[in-house]
Amino acid sequence: MNHSGTSAPGSTRAHDPFTLTIFGATGDLTHRKLMPGLFSLHARGLLPDQFAIVGFARRSYTSEAFRAWMAESIRRFAPTPPSDEALHSFLRHLHYHLGDLEADPGAFTALRDRLERDPALPKNWIFYLSVKADLFEMLIRSLSEHGLVRTPFDPLWSRVVIEKPFGRDLETARALNRSCLAHLDESQIYRIDHYLGKETVQNILSFRFANAIFDPLFNRQYVDHIQITAAETVGMESGRGAFYDATGVVRDMLQNHLMQLLCLVAMEPPARMTADAIRNEKVKVLQSVVPIAPGCVDGMAVRGQYTAGTVDGRPVPAYRDEERIAPDSGTPTFVAMRVDVANWRWSGVPFYLRTGKRLRRRVTEIVVQFRLPPLQLFETVECVGDVCDLVRARPNRLIFRIQPAEGIELRFSAKRPGLQVQVEDVVMDFLYQEKWPGTLPEAYERLLLDVIRGDSTLFTRSDEVEAQWRVVQPVLRAWEGRDEAAPLCWYPAGSWGPPEAASIFANYDTDWHNPES
Ligand code: BG6
Repeated sequence: MNHSGTSAPGSTRAHDPFTLTIFGATGDLTHRKLMPGLFSLHARGLLPDQFAIVGFARRSYTSEAFRAWMAESIRRFAPTPPSDEALHSFLRHLHYHLGDLEADPGAFTALRDRLERDPALPKNWIFYLSVKADLFEMLIRSLSEHGLVRTPFDPLWSRVVIEKPFGRDLETARALNRSCLAHLDESQIYRIDHYLGKETVQNILSFRFANAIFDPLFNRQYVDHIQITAAETVGMESGRGAFYDATGVVRDMLQNHLMQLLCLVAMEPPARMTADAIRNEKVKVLQSVVPIAPGCVDGMAVRGQYTAGTVDGRPVPAYRDEERIAPDSGTPTFVAMRVDVANWRWSGVPFYLRTGKRLRRRVTEIVVQFRLPPLQLFETVECVGDVCDLVRARPNRLIFRIQPAEGIELRFSAKRPGLQVQVEDVVMDFLYQEKWPGTLPEAYERLLLDVIRGDSTLFTRSDEVEAQWRVVQPVLRAWEGRDEAAPLCWYPAGSWGPPEAASIFANYDTDWHNPES
């Protein structure tokens, strides 16, 4: 058994029997991700023989009705269609517990009694908090006061999984960390950032540190700058409007997912592939980020909101006309930010981060752009169809494509066949689908298995989550009116964001790398 959460990640079977209680069991996440993920783990033989899943929510269901409902979700969202036999075998492990966390003071006592007494429920406990963030503190305190948190020295274990957002800013994240740590040991807390469960995100470390040929180039001597893009085509579907309008893109994507990508591409090799060694290195990156001084956010960050436009050939409304969005909302749906990492490796190499809703294409990628060779000995040609032009020399680029078309692309110059000495940009491509056809494991599947196995490598530690907030805090402060009022820029849905997003480039020649260009 592993209490410290320091084992190396792997996809081996979990052995300890466990009961996973999901708070918010009737919510979207449970349907779309958690149940299909758990089902898939079970179907692949990765869960122990004895386990139970208890759905906790205030809607009145019997366990039978809950199972039928979850069967529907699994049929709809599992990556491969389930066989009746596999589904039936999984559903036997599901239970429902009716309770109202907010209104009923007896809800926890009833849950505890059931978890302790029901022989069908194994006594290692996982609690998954898939509820509104303002309930996290109360839930953790109540679990502890009702004896549902074991000490880290108990041979039986308990773990708590906390969904994002973890706090609304640095102050609230600190307060939440304090309350978590008053009741739980750090090794019992699993703060989810589902980007870390993505296969291609994990591959960033393998690619950098399992090969001797790339990482020696990852430094200020060879790299000109790095761009990290997470572009989405979705808007406010599935009734998320109210949540999103109160959250905005900085809290929803930049503070967590993009910060993690930044850490993985910039961190030093860990001493070992253990949870703490990896997280120590990530924290060091965040600690090296130069804080944006008050009053200097302009020129370092740009925010935008989408107007009506066309995405994937379909007309879509402006953000302000989406369901459950205030008609005069000032919430940003796009952000671009320059980050300077002042450490030995990266000093002077800017990192440009951007993410937004309703952009041209769904793509998440990291582009490492190298410096040009010191002399331009060749003419560079670029061709569109049969028409070729002389252009500026093209720098080498290494692109980690996180999604879709997961893979890695290396762009470099090669001599064009012919009597003239000219070069053209060519691509060497590694595609997951070509090498390993089939579906990549879902991020949640991976993360759920890690919680069950007690491996916290792919979860965010308390100091890490605070360090992430520290990086975005100056931007939030500026945009939420405490220091200055920065403009909100507009972009039509289906574009690559507001043109002003290019204003953060230190070098006049740089532009965003948009995948189709
Ligand atoms: C979630 C955000 O964390 O990540 C969503 O709350 C966003 O707004 C989603 O759409 C993106 O995840 P993925 O896996 O589709 O890139």
